[in-house]
Amino acid sequence: MADLDDVKGGRNFFAGTPIPHRGFFVQGAHSLDWGMKNRLAQIFDARSGRTLMLAIDLGFFQGPTTGLERIDVSILPLLSCADALMVTRGVLRTSIPPEMNKPIVLRCTAGQSVLKELSNESLSVAADDAARLNASAMAAQAYVGAQYEHESICNVAELVDRSQRTGIPVLGVTGIGKDMARDARYLGLATRIVAEIGAHFVKTYYCEPDFEDVVLGCPVPIVVAGGKKLSEIDALWMAFKSIDQGAAGVDMGRNIFQAEHPLAMIQAVRAIVHGNARPEYAFDLYCSLKENVAAPISAVS
Ligand code: R5P
Repeated sequence: MADLDDVKGGRNFFAGTPIPHRGFFVQGAHSLDWGMKNRLAQIFDARSGRTLMLAIDLGFFQGPTTGLERIDVSILPLLSCADALMVTRGVLRTSIPPEMNKPIVLRCTAGQSVLKELSNESLSVAADDAARLNASAMAAQAYVGAQYEHESICNVAELVDRSQRTGIPVLGVTGIGKDMARDARYLGLATRIVAEIGAHFVKTYYCEPDFEDVVLGCPVPIVVAGGKKLSEIDALWMAFKSIDQGAAGVDMGRNIFQAEHPLAMIQAVRAIVHGNARPEYAFDLYCSLKENVAAPISAVS
């Protein structure tokens, strides 16, 4: 019988006792097949165990978002600083050069717009097309507690079944309805559900307090979404606190491509994710890099 009256959230996450990696550096992936591990190792850097994903999959439900009007102008110059690109197949085929050597996390759900109920999604990409696009992961969103909770959780489950056939791992994203709390109790519930369904890594939001418990309660890596645009220093603090409390990376969109200087911002976030930089140092780096916007970074290297 489920604890319906008073959800019995976990209370003892044994903070201070690290979760063992059991022979492969990506948490929870030790028993996966070679192809799954290889694709995860494209997304997560084996040296730091972390990833800096650039999320540009917003237009599929909210149109030409600020900063994404021209992918060729605003996004391609950032790619060399990202470890992976989260994107829809429409933008991938039309706007991303195939010479790019960054792994693709392919958005595989759609069906709603910002004008209607966000949780009303379906799977939108067949597994063979994900393979054709050389995706390193497929992403689906679970809206726990929302109107279409059941359908969206089933989307993740179906994508996991497809991943077992193709060897392409699944990123489970915790979609959050407009009026829902983003606290540790809710995010712990949503991330654990997505991981138990079989997602190989999970994207969710940072929260205070107790984000560390969300991470410890999830048996696969958590990457943190950036969410709405913050000031640059606040976004860097959020990235720092996420990593410091156990996240295996960030999957950041608006807080990078809507920054005053996106190329400087992505390098500052990178210093936190892979270099364990403090936010004060990362912000100083951002300020000095933005004075030197002509930094010679190739668009697709
Ligand atoms: C989340 O559902 C989608 O992947 C978003 O497109 C993504 O979160 C965008 O990144 P951010 O929230 O950092 O702008």
